[in-house]
Amino acid sequence: MTDFDKMSRRDFFTISGKAGLATVMASAVGINFGMVQVAEAAVGKGKVTPFRFAILTDAHLFSQADHKFDAMLAKAVDDVNSMSPMPDFVLYCGDIAQNGTADQLEKGKKILSKLKMPIHFIPGEHDWYLDMGAAWRGNFGAPTWSFDHKGVHFIGMNSILVKDFWTPAGLSAKERMGVMEMLESPIAGPWGVQAEQLDWLKKDVKNLSPDTPVVVFTHSPLWDYYPRWNFQTSDAPEIREILSKFERVMSFHGHVHQTLYNKIGNMGSVGTLSTSWPWPYPDIKLPYPQYQMNRSDPGNFEDGEGSQFIDLESNFTGTHHYQPFGDMLTPTMKNGFKV
Ligand SMILES: [Fe+2]
Ligand SMILES: [Fe+2]
Repeated sequence: MTDFDKMSRRDFFTISGKAGLATVMASAVGINFGMVQVAEAAVGKGKVTPFRFAILTDAHLFSQADHKFDAMLAKAVDDVNSMSPMPDFVLYCGDIAQNGTADQLEKGKKILSKLKMPIHFIPGEHDWYLDMGAAWRGNFGAPTWSFDHKGVHFIGMNSILVKDFWTPAGLSAKERMGVMEMLESPIAGPWGVQAEQLDWLKKDVKNLSPDTPVVVFTHSPLWDYYPRWNFQTSDAPEIREILSKFERVMSFHGHVHQTLYNKIGNMGSVGTLSTSWPWPYPDIKLPYPQYQMNRSDPGNFEDGEGSQFIDLESNFTGTHHYQPFGDMLTPTMKNGFKV
């Protein structure tokens, strides 16, 4: 049995032990760290009580004290706390740490504890591969979860799981983390949510009617954006197939550190601004060029980063707003765009 098998089995026991493999509240973490309120309205009626949620992601905190990325995450927390109306909750889309160490994860948890609303977490590859998610789970709970809120079914999954490449290669934990930290890292092979989470997803949505509003969070995009940089999830086609019964699905992801949008079938997929640095756009034709940010100014280290929030309406349309630190939005995106 590989480490991945062992870890994912344990994660699923964590969830199933609490509430079965159906909808769970397993990771409704806030540091606040209380549970997110239970939905007032049952999902499955296609009706949403309008509300706002925010997304923070990819802080990539280093162990060094007073690193500039600490202040940038704190600034994004202030921006979210200053919103009017306030978001009902925040979703953190992975890569809190740079090298997966416990001190980096704990520093992130401390900075995020200043949020005035609950927060939910999914992991990124930088959080996970030093100890196979042990410190991450100790701080943030199970990486696979779902909950209902104001008529919407929210799903979070761990999309950065790879098959065991380190045991045959005789790599240490630190070397394994080093491989996974690289942007272009063909050694590990493609990552994904893998079979057990696919089974969980099937069960999770089995009893939901097609008009249920569904929002899904993963660290990597649920489409083949740019596999060379692992800007993809290898089993995204299976995920999209499982969710294809729904009239509409909104997908939000971290990892790409840039504004990005794509639509495949019933799923609209939105990339998010990191609080650390922007990645350049790969030299390929993008599906929706109108949602690309301006090239960031390399002389301004706050340019190209920030936070985002989404306003959901009663008919499950949403307006996505990027909230950058600097002035980098094209006119198309200044007032938000429909997702
Ligand atoms: Fe990242
Ligand atoms: Fe990442």
